[in-house]
Amino acid sequence: MGTTLLTNIAQLVTVDAAGSVLEHAAVLIREDRIEWIGAAADAPAADTVHDLSGRTVLPGWVDSHSHLIFGGDRAEEFVARMAGQSYAAGGIAVTTLATRSLSDEELTGLVAARRAEALSMGTTWMETKTGYGLELSEESRHARLGAPIVDTLTFLGAHLVPAGADADEYTDLVAGPMLEAVAQDIDFVDIFCERGAFNEDQTRRVLQAAQDRNLATKVHGNQLGPGPGVKLAVEFGSHSVDHVNYLEDSDIQALAGSWADWDRTTRSGKPGTVATCLPACDLSTRQPLAPGRELLDAGVGIALASNCNPGTSYTSNMNFCVATAVLQMNLSLAEAIEAATYGGALALGIADQVGSIEVGKRADLHVLDAPAAAHLAYRPGMNLTHSVYRAGELAG
Ligand code: NIG
Repeated sequence: MGTTLLTNIAQLVTVDAAGSVLEHAAVLIREDRIEWIGAAADAPAADTVHDLSGRTVLPGWVDSHSHLIFGGDRAEEFVARMAGQSYAAGGIAVTTLATRSLSDEELTGLVAARRAEALSMGTTWMETKTGYGLELSEESRHARLGAPIVDTLTFLGAHLVPAGADADEYTDLVAGPMLEAVAQDIDFVDIFCERGAFNEDQTRRVLQAAQDRNLATKVHGNQLGPGPGVKLAVEFGSHSVDHVNYLEDSDIQALAGSWADWDRTTRSGKPGTVATCLPACDLSTRQPLAPGRELLDAGVGIALASNCNPGTSYTSNMNFCVATAVLQMNLSLAEAIEAATYGGALALGIADQVGSIEVGKRADLHVLDAPAAAHLAYRPGMNLTHSVYRAGELAG
């Protein structure tokens, strides 16, 4: 591969700790790493030169929350919701049935196609979850098939209590034999802590079982109403709590407290529990948007993610999520871009590798067909992705 120079960059949004934005810039890639960043006029020689003709370069998106391992779709449920029905998570069972009927080849093909679609829109690192298996053999099949396709795999056996099952017995199955069966394929354990899904005690049992195995955790929390999800995520030191639509002041304080040992200006110390906001899901379920502005103002680290899934957010377009966060959540463009890159990387525990354009990091770069990053929100809904480099290679 040798070296590749990307030059004639109008705006290079590095998302480094200082928030540096370089104009008339260039980036030198060696193999899969960023080797040099600076003014185009000072750029070193390279084996290959890509002239970006005055375009903008950002870090690739780090999408830290998605559910790509599924069959079928739920357009009818969506139409009914737009006609006034509220979202109540029961549709997870519909997707579970549709997914069970797929062969390994069919399911693998669907997940790979969804991953490729996200990459084509700038997502260079993608997390996804199991959670449409809901029985031991299916959950472990989904983990085994999904792990090689995505960058981070999360076990969400505790997504819904299957029809007819006893919630406590199912929780024991998730926290015991299921976790045992998937452990070698996964990076995180997650649980949907919500009325109608898993209660506080059941959430504790799953998080504790993960901790006992030294597995990192996440929580789906406070999506459909106030609840204990946020506080449990903080108590267990989870990397993130996701959704966070219905927060009490005490939830925001608990999250802020978890960031007390993190120095934002040097990005050193111990990161707290990231509050992951999912604006595409909030729009598609007509929930109040997560209070990203209040969370940031309170000192909480936030991430933006797509939550791509067939029920509540059938999109993996992170450009759209960033635009929505700016237009509807009162984030500045720089804050939204940081949340969708470095914030996602913190939520996945990989911020030393990806999430910003810095020397030594993996060369994950998103080229926008625009002279400035502001166009992401200024021209919402437009297809602005020009090209994508993942680990130094031009994708697609
Ligand atoms: O993150 N909240 C739970 N899980 C998904 C929705 C899953 C579905 O409805 O299929 C979410 O929104």
